[in-house]
Amino acid sequence: MDKIVIQGGVSLKGKVTVSGAKNAALPILASSILAEGEHLFRNVPDLADVRTMCKLLGTMGAEAERQTGKLKDAVRISVPETLSPEAPYELVKTMRASVLVLGPLCARFGRARVSLPGGCAIGARPIDQHLKGLKLLGAELELNAGYVEARAKRLRGATINFDVVTVTGTENLMMAAALAQGRTVLENAAREPEVEELARVLNKMGARISGAGTDVITIEGVERLSAIEHAILPDRIEAGTFAVAAALTQGNVLIERCVPEHLDAVIQKLRAAGATVSAEDGGLRVKGPRTLKPVDVKTMPHPGFPTDMQAQLMVLMTVADGSSVIAETVFENRFMHALELQRMGADITIDGHTAVVKGVAMLQGAPVMATDLRASASLILAGLRAGGVTEVQRVYHLDRGYERIERKLRGLGARVRRVKDRRAS
Ligand code: EPU
Repeated sequence: MDKIVIQGGVSLKGKVTVSGAKNAALPILASSILAEGEHLFRNVPDLADVRTMCKLLGTMGAEAERQTGKLKDAVRISVPETLSPEAPYELVKTMRASVLVLGPLCARFGRARVSLPGGCAIGARPIDQHLKGLKLLGAELELNAGYVEARAKRLRGATINFDVVTVTGTENLMMAAALAQGRTVLENAAREPEVEELARVLNKMGARISGAGTDVITIEGVERLSAIEHAILPDRIEAGTFAVAAALTQGNVLIERCVPEHLDAVIQKLRAAGATVSAEDGGLRVKGPRTLKPVDVKTMPHPGFPTDMQAQLMVLMTVADGSSVIAETVFENRFMHALELQRMGADITIDGHTAVVKGVAMLQGAPVMATDLRASASLILAGLRAGGVTEVQRVYHLDRGYERIERKLRGLGARVRRVKDRRAS
């Protein structure tokens, strides 16, 4: 199993280019099911999760393949007239986002059998809101041997008020409603840029969706959708991770292909911490201060501070000049990185959903491992700032969501390499 080895202490300098957004690519690839024909999606990051989604589409009978040469950033998907509408446990257990095929399968084939995802390292993460919405659209649902089995002649539009703001729940129901009969209104919908991007894609396919990006989305169902070509928006969380890396290392980095408006909440916190952040040349320049100031953060659905940046911001605060309070309100168990950061000398006290981080003068390199994607990224960041050598194990988490991160960091001067870990089982 690979590990990432970091020799800390380098100020990052130069330019880095952000890849396509994982959390936009996954629903968009799933949305291809809605239209027979040949889709071409560009700027699709080459990540383990994207490969899993392609595999899932493949098991159902579509052909989803990464292209080569000039089109190597693209995935081409051929969707036949019929598919086998089943998402098996083996794939869903490796990637929860597999559940995103449920809505499109119900809408196009009136039938789906999708494994329930089960528990997760960062929280319980039920899909009750997805199921509640599908029922309101007229699907009959049954739970059988760990699978949700859905049936519907044709889905019918309805008003769905989400009890909690859910990103993939909003996406699943937007896709289901696109081919339903009549009007669907999604209330208390997620407002993430990835939801807006999916709406753009569906509208290109011929859907009639308005209001995406606000908390009320209206979908006028249509009879059919057509295959399209589309380039996926840049990954705001990858951009945010590089922004923290620059701030943390007294660096000076231009993050190219970044949409600053998608990072408003993160930029505000970086500025409050003393970093200089400016929009420049289709990107974002971030300069780290000599002394970081403490900032309090509370994660919230978009446009609030993203939970997917909480671990990275926590690392920044471990070396700030004072105490910060970080509250995680989106997931119930997303502080696992704090324990690993403590092993590197950080002073963090967890009380339920709140972490109190007292800045220390110095982090020390150590062997560490993480239980989820963003936690792994935060440990790499800590390694960049720490004295000595940090080894981040369980790199497979990182490979789910960051395209060639060690190469990108090396391009900024970091001393980072990937090695085979012969001791790992
Ligand atoms: N929730 C429910 N019931 C539901 C759905 C969600 O109670 O039916 C709860 C969840 O348990 C959680 C909260 O609502 O406490 C928000 O969950 P949400 O459904 O919004 O999360 P998600 O759609 O499963 C997406 C991203 C996550 C990101 C969250 C929050 C994708 C593929 N995943 O997950 O990304 O953290 O939204 O922004 O879009 C990551 O990239 O590292 C990652 C975990």
